[in-house]
Amino acid sequence: MSQNIIYCFSGTGNCLDIAKNIAKALGDTDIVMMRRFPAVTTALKAERVGFVFPCYAGGLPGGVEDYVRSIAIGPDTYTFGVVSFAGYPGIGLKKIHDIIPLAYHAGISHQSACIWLMPHTLMIPPLTPEKAQKRSEELAAKIAEDVKNKVRSDKAPSAPLFNKLEASVWPSLAPKKAAAFTVTGKCIGCGQCASLCPKGNIKMVGGRPDFGTDCVQCLSCLQFCPRQAINMGGATLTRERYHNPNVSAKDLNEKVIHID
Ligand SMILES: Cc1cc2nc3c(=O)[nH]c(=O)nc-3n(C[C@H](O)[C@H](O)[C@H](O)COP(=O)(O)O)c2cc1C
Repeated sequence: MSQNIIYCFSGTGNCLDIAKNIAKALGDTDIVMMRRFPAVTTALKAERVGFVFPCYAGGLPGGVEDYVRSIAIGPDTYTFGVVSFAGYPGIGLKKIHDIIPLAYHAGISHQSACIWLMPHTLMIPPLTPEKAQKRSEELAAKIAEDVKNKVRSDKAPSAPLFNKLEASVWPSLAPKKAAAFTVTGKCIGCGQCASLCPKGNIKMVGGRPDFGTDCVQCLSCLQFCPRQAINMGGATLTRERYHNPNVSAKDLNEKVIHID
């Protein structure tokens, strides 16, 4: 087992990029993806265990809470959490802290690929994707230094009431949103969307993706589609796609990424 383990969920790659940057600074780190059930749930011998994940509707992406519950860590393990968000960090850190107490926690604001809560790629306050990426890299370097030195946060993560409410209604809204996926004639039937879907919600039928309703709205299918053939209702027809410039669909599909 590697010295450090970072559990990561990522839809458009920002969190995987952040996790990689922290891992490179720490050395000897396994990044275990939580998009499907994590390949490694026993982290008893790791010196540091971290969680890097995005804020979804004020809370955690679907599945992450259950994944975290399945992870066993040692009594002396140093723990940390990093949330990526567009406008506000939400209650995800607090939810994880209630399962596995976090010695250290931090947030990184980054580009948003959320389609309904705010206009595509708009951050609060607005920033270009390039500037957002540069800032994310700088913050990840600072967080990595803290994690290396096992810095402890003064306070536990907070859970604002509005985010609690938002996060509690989201699980019932996300599947309804999935009904709005459509595919245009630009689709080449490559099946990347189906292989990327963390829920196995996309099946290839007659060479075209067919969407079910078990969807966490990570939007990897839509944002990484090589032909921009997937849309979510009318909202995405004229919008640019976004995924982190350093992360590919292949990276997202890895189960464990080891960084020396
Ligand atoms: C379904 C969904 C819901 C989101 N909800 C919020 C939110 O409530 N607040 C916020 O600040 N950002 C929100 N975002 C933006 C993401 O947290 C942000 O873009 C993050 O960097 C994405 O990380 P990723 O690229 O690793 O998936 C949301 C994004 C998605 C796809």
